Amino acid sequence: MEDRTYTAIGSSNIAFIKYWGRRDDKINLPNNSSISMTLDKNVGTKTSVLFSDKLERDKLFINGKEENLGEGANEKLRFIGEMLDHYKKAAGINTKVLIVSENNFPSDSGLASSASGGATLAFLLANALDLKMHPREISIMARRISGSACRSVYGGIVKWNAGSKHDGSDSFAEQVVDHKHWPDLMDMIAIVDPSKKKVSSSAGHTVTVRTSTLYKARLQVAEEGVKKVVEAVKDRDFHALAEAVMRDSNNMHATMIDSWPPIMYLNDASRNIIYAVHELNESEGRYVAAYTFDAGSNAHIITTSSNRGKVIKMLEETGVVRSIIESRMGAGPEMLEGEESLIDQESLAPRHNRNPEIGKND
Ligand code: DP6
Repeated sequence: MEDRTYTAIGSSNIAFIKYWGRRDDKINLPNNSSISMTLDKNVGTKTSVLFSDKLERDKLFINGKEENLGEGANEKLRFIGEMLDHYKKAAGINTKVLIVSENNFPSDSGLASSASGGATLAFLLANALDLKMHPREISIMARRISGSACRSVYGGIVKWNAGSKHDGSDSFAEQVVDHKHWPDLMDMIAIVDPSKKKVSSSAGHTVTVRTSTLYKARLQVAEEGVKKVVEAVKDRDFHALAEAVMRDSNNMHATMIDSWPPIMYLNDASRNIIYAVHELNESEGRYVAAYTFDAGSNAHIITTSSNRGKVIKMLEETGVVRSIIESRMGAGPEMLEGEESLIDQESLAPRHNRNPEIGKND
């Protein structure tokens, strides 16, 4: 095939009803369905690929660092290696590939990027090789890299169906509404601790399933939560959405604390924010903001444009917030035409890293 580079940009997502715990740890099959909002490209990943016979092996650079895809690599990277073979087989080629991926959110934000990076890569390879894959198939590929990545294959509000088949063929994401449905919905990400989490989400999923006595009850709660969120989103009912989102975050973190040994992602700063959001809602006499926390202490405050100022004031007054990243609902991954590639085609190497704020993959 002709040597040319292809570039795509994709973004992260914030789960309203969380994926926590798997029935298959190898291929990331969840125990419950989940639902999320895909974020805008300011919490995203840009990735370029170049297939060329001049390359002696497949190479992957993430945020300027070369990652090993073969033996000794971690599970996510090993799967990327397998995925490359799968895509090449489908395209009927054996050409080596160079992949260069960069996050566009600051490295000191403590935000995980595997959802954004995984979805962007799965999407980009399908398009670069012109495989005409259904988004569902791309979602299944992204899921293998990181469960939550399967939802970032679409924009808007996205539901990941847990599925029940052993091979995972019915465990993929689908769009509930696109990003134009509720344009003033926002995620204000309040960074309270930029350091890397002590327990990776991958390890956390397994420990909770094995040891939490509350976990069984969560599965029912989460499935009901997904239905509530779908309804709330369709009706643009912020009140119903806010309560479902906060309750689900608390419910998931309860099973984490109930794990043995306990997993505690929330810290004093997170708890300060939880109280501050309840106080704000109380003083307004209605829900104007909802908190949700992933496997970390940084808060995601879901709100609407008209309440943005109140949320910023509330976050500042807690005294625990280092920075705020504001994001909205994103349109999902897209190919970038005519934009500078991250690959220098002459030297078959990453272009000099132009972004000093470059992020870190977890
Ligand atoms: C708390 O997708 O990071 O953010 O499948 O092991 O890569 P792996 O886990 P990951 O888990 C994310 C968990 C969560 C909730 C969510 O995004 O649904």
